[in-house]
Amino acid sequence: MTKKILILPGDGIGPEIVAEAEKVLQALRADFGLDVETEQALIGGAATDAEGTSLPEQTLALARQADAVLLGAVGGPRWDALERHLRPERGLLAIRAELGLFGNLRPAILYPQLADASALKPEVVAGLDILIVRELTGGIYFGEPRGIDTVDGVRRGYNTLVYSEPEVERIARLAFDIAGKRQGRVTSVDKANVLEVSELWRETVTRLAGDYPGITLEHMYVDNAAMQLVRAPKQFDVVVTGNMFGDILSDCAAMLTGSIGMLPSASLNESSQGLYEPVHGSAPDIAGQGKANPLATILSLAMLLRYSLGEGVLAERVEGAVGKVLDQGLGTPDIRRPGMREVGTTAMGDAVVAALGEAG
Ligand code: IPM
Ligand code: MG
Repeated sequence: MTKKILILPGDGIGPEIVAEAEKVLQALRADFGLDVETEQALIGGAATDAEGTSLPEQTLALARQADAVLLGAVGGPRWDALERHLRPERGLLAIRAELGLFGNLRPAILYPQLADASALKPEVVAGLDILIVRELTGGIYFGEPRGIDTVDGVRRGYNTLVYSEPEVERIARLAFDIAGKRQGRVTSVDKANVLEVSELWRETVTRLAGDYPGITLEHMYVDNAAMQLVRAPKQFDVVVTGNMFGDILSDCAAMLTGSIGMLPSASLNESSQGLYEPVHGSAPDIAGQGKANPLATILSLAMLLRYSLGEGVLAERVEGAVGKVLDQGLGTPDIRRPGMREVGTTAMGDAVVAALGEAG
């Protein structure tokens, strides 16, 4: 049956990078028998401008019908001054919540061709392949009560960090299942020395580990995890953590690989419907200049093929093509090293399409 992909270009560099992933998708349909149809819709600031809301009903309805959603990026200074509910980020948080996308997979893989693009010494990051599994629909991002009010004439702002046992269980299971297909090691990151919510998190993850005899579980406080990520990142295989800790640690992990422009992500719900997006943002400073790196979006498309369409072989073909263009020494400005040839967004996308058909 024909699978449906909803494409949400979003803001800033979003439309440029998504266009390159669409070229790859088009080539997979034309030359490799992929049976998909695509539709486009608005999200983020682009939607706020056109419809007065960052997640229009129409977009959400299309997303619900789709097997997978491919998203560019949302946000930009133009919308920063708007009220919170009109901000582009609201649209992203709302679509995650509405589709129940609790499981956010953020792999940080160092391509050997980019070893010296990392801020860390090559030997510290060579061969790096870690996966951050971030809980995405709970925690402090969504906890109630939240707000800003005035008590005795003093303004205060507050949020609530809350996790229920079932929420911890499902994200932990996802991490354990995935670790079983990798090196079998899970590091659960929390702040159990201070927070009750982390105490419950830790107990729950420990209890579940009993169901996974093949997995080694370790616990780490978040401050130490941040330090260990830059000190000795290769000690990690799968890192599982809550929404806000995962937000912070995944940016940190991204930078180990040299450029956040290389990192894809998948956000999955319980029926393997998924939303796929690059980890980087909308980069308004370089939007429209044709120099954004489309590889994180193209690699997000590979994750989409693997996790939501069951097309693991095609996913590997796309990932292989990305490896080949790096072997050819092509690089957008964010990853270009001495000796590499600088290319723009569209040339990079074209090179990946050309490499798709090459053997090996
Ligand atoms: C991310 C982003 C988002 C988040 C923002 C844009 C709401 O930083 O996907 O990591 O905090 O989740
Ligand atoms: Mg983030």
